[in-house]
Amino acid sequence: MSNPHERVVIFDTTLRDGEQCPGASMTLEEKLEVADLLDTMGVDVIEAGFPIASNGDFESVAEIARRTKRAVVAGLARAIPADIARAGEAVKFAQRPRIHTFVSTSPIHLEHQMRKTQDQVIDIITATVTQARNLVDNIEWSAMDATRTPIDYLSRCVETAVKAGATTINLPDTVGYATPSEYEAMFRQVRAYILDRVPNGEQIIFSAHCHDDLGLAVANSLAALAGGARQIECTINGLGERAGNAALEEVVMAIRTRGDVLPYATGIESTMLTRASKLVSAVTSFPVQYNKAIVGRNAFAHESGIHQDGMLKNNTTYEIMTPDSVGVSKTSLVMGKHSGRAAFRDKLKALGYELGENALNDAFSRFKELADRKKVVYDEDIEALVDHEIAAAHD
Ligand code: KIV
Ligand code: ZN
Repeated sequence: MSNPHERVVIFDTTLRDGEQCPGASMTLEEKLEVADLLDTMGVDVIEAGFPIASNGDFESVAEIARRTKRAVVAGLARAIPADIARAGEAVKFAQRPRIHTFVSTSPIHLEHQMRKTQDQVIDIITATVTQARNLVDNIEWSAMDATRTPIDYLSRCVETAVKAGATTINLPDTVGYATPSEYEAMFRQVRAYILDRVPNGEQIIFSAHCHDDLGLAVANSLAALAGGARQIECTINGLGERAGNAALEEVVMAIRTRGDVLPYATGIESTMLTRASKLVSAVTSFPVQYNKAIVGRNAFAHESGIHQDGMLKNNTTYEIMTPDSVGVSKTSLVMGKHSGRAAFRDKLKALGYELGENALNDAFSRFKELADRKKVVYDEDIEALVDHEIAAAHD
């Protein structure tokens, strides 16, 4: 179905779904800083906020719309006329504005949250997408809780949205419930339905939006590509509601690293990923877990003797991407109780010590004793230990 390295649109929602994460709110200045970085690093669509939510949200979406040079700027709106009007007001300053409007489609949401029938929701879709399309040309429509919606009804909703003027169709896994094969199949079926019924249906971009409640958000997003999706909605550091959204840096690096089985390309400058991660962590005060893929402190750190030995011989032994490809200056060989003699010798060399074989053996034994007591042995510890060894040799 796909040509080699077909382009995938990266839609970043750090400033909207990411900010919905409890405790992750950002000031206007912080949002502008994040938006500027997203634009510079090649994000295709920046979802800047939810303009009806507050005056502050409106102002930040409008300001991001004014200053963004390259990316499409989207504002979110419920399927409510006042929301859509407000989103239209906020994004109208953008060079490339988008309104993103959504409504729930699953039986659970229709019964317990919306208290509407399926036919009423169909009418709402027609009215709200038409209203949005009268304001801007670029309209994204989302079927909230798509993955718990019967496929026939979901397909009918999508057809309605497309016929009313939606140009991107997002099928979110709102509650992080889907598995990769189910999510792929949903895209394949809905897309086939649209291609059958809508002239120029191949121009509609299908979009994946995955939450990480079962830890499957990135896997599901990548599976959606196989089902025909060509936009992935994600956030820096996977920030987002509950367990978060698909992490942008993981999606981008999976596509970049596994082009053999994921024949797609993004426009992201991957060397900026670490910087973006640090900025979002700093402005939200959300720490990045040490072992987080791609941007965690340990993502390029090796402690075990076997791994360190391999890395000293050739870094492809235990690294599938280079640290500099994500903006980290180098691999770190962390000295601890699992480190071997080769890494210890290499560390001594880097610290400027050349020890003879006997002194090296003594120092290595003392290092192992120390490493048993401390979680990590720092350079200063090793220096103190070797200086002691050298002083003892001169006594
Ligand atoms: O998770 C979700 O369904 C959403 C929609 C607003 C797209 O965030
Ligand atoms: Zn979401």
